[in-house]
Amino acid sequence: MTTRADCEALDAKDPLRELADRFAPGEPGTLYFDANSIGAMPVDVPARIEAHLKEWRNLRRRGWSESTWLDAPKRLGAKIAPILGASPDEVVVGDTTSINLFKTLAAALSLRPDRPRVVSQAGTFPTDLYVVQGLKTLRPEIELHLVADGESIEAAIDDRTAVVYLSQVDYRSARRLDIRKLTAAAHAEGALTVWDLSHGAGAVPADLDTANADFAVGCGYKYLCGGPGAPAYSFVARRHQEAVKPALAGWMGHANPFTFSTDYAPGAGMARFVVGTPSVIANAIMEGAFDIWAEVDPAQVFAKHAALGDLLIALTKDIVEVGSPGDADERGGFVALRHPAGAAVVGALADAGVVSSFRPPDSIRFGLSALYHRYVDMWEVAVRLRAIIDDGLWKAEKYKKTKTI
Ligand SMILES: Cc1ncc(COP(=O)(O)O)c(C=O)c1O
Repeated sequence: MTTRADCEALDAKDPLRELADRFAPGEPGTLYFDANSIGAMPVDVPARIEAHLKEWRNLRRRGWSESTWLDAPKRLGAKIAPILGASPDEVVVGDTTSINLFKTLAAALSLRPDRPRVVSQAGTFPTDLYVVQGLKTLRPEIELHLVADGESIEAAIDDRTAVVYLSQVDYRSARRLDIRKLTAAAHAEGALTVWDLSHGAGAVPADLDTANADFAVGCGYKYLCGGPGAPAYSFVARRHQEAVKPALAGWMGHANPFTFSTDYAPGAGMARFVVGTPSVIANAIMEGAFDIWAEVDPAQVFAKHAALGDLLIALTKDIVEVGSPGDADERGGFVALRHPAGAAVVGALADAGVVSSFRPPDSIRFGLSALYHRYVDMWEVAVRLRAIIDDGLWKAEKYKKTKTI
């Protein structure tokens, strides 16, 4: 039986324990496990932004040439490349995940012009599917083949498949797909891969280069802690970069934006995946977190993340059913617990100072961060959850209306 003292002992020997002090703690006594929207912000972000705004107030127009904001997409991409298992010149930051899905899917399709098929999963995050449906208005020949939950993805890949287009981690259960195995299966049929890493990156390995992945994207605001509404990122394997003529071509991706030429000429490598003006303030917020990412050892992050998840499962499995895989190698960034009145339990947890999130039909998600969660937080959430379930607190009338966004 694990005790609170056992959890404290794990914290005492955690090599990452001091990083927690570099993240804003939030409301005193509240534990944040918000998998869907936002990781914690580094404590130095407000000071960084104030300095940044002061600099911009004075520079104004000269900010265009005297500040480093234009390079931010590449600079920030290089800082998080190691956590994705990518090389620094394979990642750029910018736009939203949905827009980057469009860019990378269009790019992958353009490299397989004679093949109509996109293979994905029916249960994948809806925006990913909407992007294919939108692209179909430009390329009506696209056939979207959706694999049902529990069915074989490999069996759906054939020699008409252009792109295998998948989320690394299921947003409802945290079940994680094997990027290496599925990329190999796609390549065996001559297809390419586009991976959405949103619920994995910053928590579990993606190993994009070792897996020989082709394209990937993901959110900056979840486990990467890039701040509210942070920009997303795109990865393109070096071997494809020069072959792609972007469908979403913009002046900031031009080889020489300030020559203002009439014709588009793609910038070198990942530069062409930048479209328009970078979000100066959002990037400055994000850099607060990415400077921390650039310091940490990804292997330590992944090991701690797996251990936090294993501990949370061990401490809660006799309270409610666990909806995520027990094996950390098959799990993404969060642990899902199941309860038929999941939304009400999420409401009761919030009142008990535990921020979690709900996804229908019954998934209560606890997003875990190796950067700022402590082992004792897992203990604490289990104690509060047990009280809610044992005492039936979730049955209160007010939780029937819990908002689930
Ligand atoms: C797997 C996945 N992809 C994409 C998105 C949405 O990304 P964006 O809003 O940046 O387009 C989400 C949002 O939660 C997500 O979970």
